[in-house]
Amino acid sequence: MLDLFSKTYQNKKVLLTGDTGFKGSWMSIWLKEMGAEVYGYALPPLTDRDNFVTTGLASKIHHMDGDIRDLNKLKQYFKDVQPDMAFHLAAQPLVIDSYNNPHYNFETNLMGTVNFFESVRACESVKIAVNVTTDKCYQNNEWDWGYREIDPMGGDDPYSASKGCSELITHSYTKSFFNKDNACKIASGRAGNVIGGGDWADNRIIPDMMRAYHKKEAVFLRNPSSVRPWQFVLEPVYGYLKLGEKLYNEGSKFVGGWNFGPAAYENYTVGQVVEQVKQVLPDLKTESPAQLEKLHEATLLKLDVTKAVNHLGWHPKLNFKDTILFTVEGYVEELKGGANLYQSRVNQINQYCSK
Ligand SMILES: NC(=O)c1ccc[n+]([C@@H]2O[C@H](COP(=O)([O-])OP(=O)(O)OC[C@H]3O[C@@H](n4cnc5c(N)ncnc54)[C@H](O)[C@@H]3O)[C@@H](O)[C@H]2O)c1
Repeated sequence: MLDLFSKTYQNKKVLLTGDTGFKGSWMSIWLKEMGAEVYGYALPPLTDRDNFVTTGLASKIHHMDGDIRDLNKLKQYFKDVQPDMAFHLAAQPLVIDSYNNPHYNFETNLMGTVNFFESVRACESVKIAVNVTTDKCYQNNEWDWGYREIDPMGGDDPYSASKGCSELITHSYTKSFFNKDNACKIASGRAGNVIGGGDWADNRIIPDMMRAYHKKEAVFLRNPSSVRPWQFVLEPVYGYLKLGEKLYNEGSKFVGGWNFGPAAYENYTVGQVVEQVKQVLPDLKTESPAQLEKLHEATLLKLDVTKAVNHLGWHPKLNFKDTILFTVEGYVEELKGGANLYQSRVNQINQYCSK
């Protein structure tokens, strides 16, 4: 049921950077369940609550602790593994942290991307490589239309700028080093705010909410009126895997950038997310402090997913209500304790695939 990719990943060696992270851990589980041999490279998980830890992934896939800024170590890992496919998800992923430490943010997100493609370039076994960036890579005009893959890259805050640069690096490597017929086929996936069980990162609204709910405290809403393209974690992961399948089986025409976001009418504010979560967890308390320092963060951001729908055959499977339901169920399962979380993630992948 959970193989929506014509067995493309079965018995393949797939190397993922960022496997200890939120998206990377879900993607590793999905790949493993499809019969792939999964090899991860990332920093160790930050806390014992991370999805990578609670699902026991360390004993189910191959993993190497390593810094993406360490080119020699990453290259050596590629050389040792000889993967068929590679996905790059290791990044500094938070806007707030990028303000606190812009140098680390740029080093990780720019040179990390360069190091990923250098490692791919040095390893002939790799047939396809996908770089995971974000909707924030686009120059944000704060308009009502969704951004298309042909719109200019940009980014005012250091995180967004670093992801715009990561896209330009991908483009440069495509044109400069991977443009021959038999070269590795490379592409990038751009998705928006992703939510789902197992994400405990600081300064993200759903984890903040779940922490507050668990402690019976009020959650602070940083920007209640911000519109974000909320997606359940498996939506973009489905997109990355679909893109990988097309690149692997059909090649060059899938090289380039691809948006993975909710349907155009499914854009909701932080406040609406909170209201929907309260439908499932009525005891959740919220607070919007008046005196919070305002850092610049884009307030309106939408993606146009026409290209992925028409050419990849990908489409968002969950509506807003189901997105929140899948998400809250993932956390509740975890908070009640004692569950086999690996199996419960597999069950959600199956449920998602059957939609
Ligand atoms: N979560 C979202 O809402 C969201 C939205 C858009 C794009 N993204 C992008 O998706 C990707 C994955 O994000 P996530 O939500 O899983 O983030 P995460 O913080 O949960 O995971 C990040 C991963 O990157 C690894 N990493 C970070 N710095 C590293 C370094 N210096 N060396 C090696 N590994 C390092 C971490 O160990 C972890 O495995 C990132 O590129 C992120 O920018 C995430």
